[in-house]
Amino acid sequence: MDNRQITLRSRPIGIPQPEHFELRTAVVPELGEGEFLVENCYLSVDPAQRGYVNDENNYAPPVPIGAVMRAMAVGKVIASRNASVHTGDHYYGWFGWQDYCVATPASLLRRLDPDQAPLSTGAGLLGINGLTAYLALQDIGKPKAGETVLVTAAAGAVGSIVGQLARQSGARPVAVVGSEEKGRQCLAEYGYAAFVNYKEPLEDALRAACPDGIHVFFDNTGGTIADTVLRQMALFGRVIQCGTMSIASWVPAPQGPRNDREILTRRLRIEGFVIFDHIARYDAAATHLAALLKAGKLRYAEDIGHDIALAPQALVDVYSGLNRGKKLIRLR
Ligand SMILES: NC(=O)c1ccc[n+]([C@@H]2O[C@H](COP(=O)([O-])OP(=O)(O)OC[C@H]3O[C@@H](n4cnc5c(N)ncnc54)[C@H](OP(=O)(O)O)[C@@H]3O)[C@@H](O)[C@H]2O)c1
Repeated sequence: MDNRQITLRSRPIGIPQPEHFELRTAVVPELGEGEFLVENCYLSVDPAQRGYVNDENNYAPPVPIGAVMRAMAVGKVIASRNASVHTGDHYYGWFGWQDYCVATPASLLRRLDPDQAPLSTGAGLLGINGLTAYLALQDIGKPKAGETVLVTAAAGAVGSIVGQLARQSGARPVAVVGSEEKGRQCLAEYGYAAFVNYKEPLEDALRAACPDGIHVFFDNTGGTIADTVLRQMALFGRVIQCGTMSIASWVPAPQGPRNDREILTRRLRIEGFVIFDHIARYDAAATHLAALLKAGKLRYAEDIGHDIALAPQALVDVYSGLNRGKKLIRLR
């Protein structure tokens, strides 16, 4: 059986471009004892994949040159030599940018129930994006009624869910986005009370949108946006460092204004969050989000391509803000 695969051709510095990848066709090997074959349905396109191919500041070894691009995906088990994994079951896991994956239990993140929610949500709303929004807000942000929650990349797969959950907790979510169109979507669909466009002067716009200061900062971008935001935090504010979309490269280390005094005088707490520290909580968190979805209390958007060859370009597009919701490549 032929297996189309996106492999890493060369190692990028900064945001990977299509020329760093190659589309190849391989043959699916025979299954060994304990292995199973997953047929991918939806490939996930995630900002974190930039880190998977860079040597810079990695906490896991980068994808080797010539190897299949590391990626999460939703797939169906079509053959199994593992007694605990059954043909016909669907999983979200580390299946790579390819048609088929010879997987082991170590590849799995979560078994999916197609009756719980549409399969595609397994890689978005009920995948790392929604789970991060829910768990990071709950663990670190802890928004209280009336507090202002500022969210960067607010119209995206994580940010759109943060806005709705913050609003449900009685807080006042404010979106930071790259266009008026996304800002209006945040107001109309994702529970946000106001938005600011970071492509325009930010400081005064932020002050106007957050007159009581920012109690919780859910930061997906870092960089100069975060520098500006930290200077408008309320006393005892909490900062969730979730992503660094705005940093093109970590080599050399980015320089910027120093916010030490802001952290001290405003008594801020800044905590990094990595969803893979919380795998044991995925099922419970996904069940909670799926129940909200069924009750009509949660909206999500997906931006679905259909050509595996365009997966590398899709990653570039996410870094350009061209995605409209969770970016996926549907294979079948
Ligand atoms: N910590 C974790 O465990 C974890 C898990 C999942 C995701 N994340 C992080 O969450 C963030 C959002 O991920 P996602 O998958 O939901 O993607 P997304 O928000 O759907 O897409 C990324 C968005 O970032 C914005 N963006 C791109 N470049 C930017 C820049 N230079 N400055 C400001 N904004 C920029 C764009 O929106 P605009 O058009 O508004 O610019 C783009 O649409 C990423 O940083 C990701 O790494 C972290």
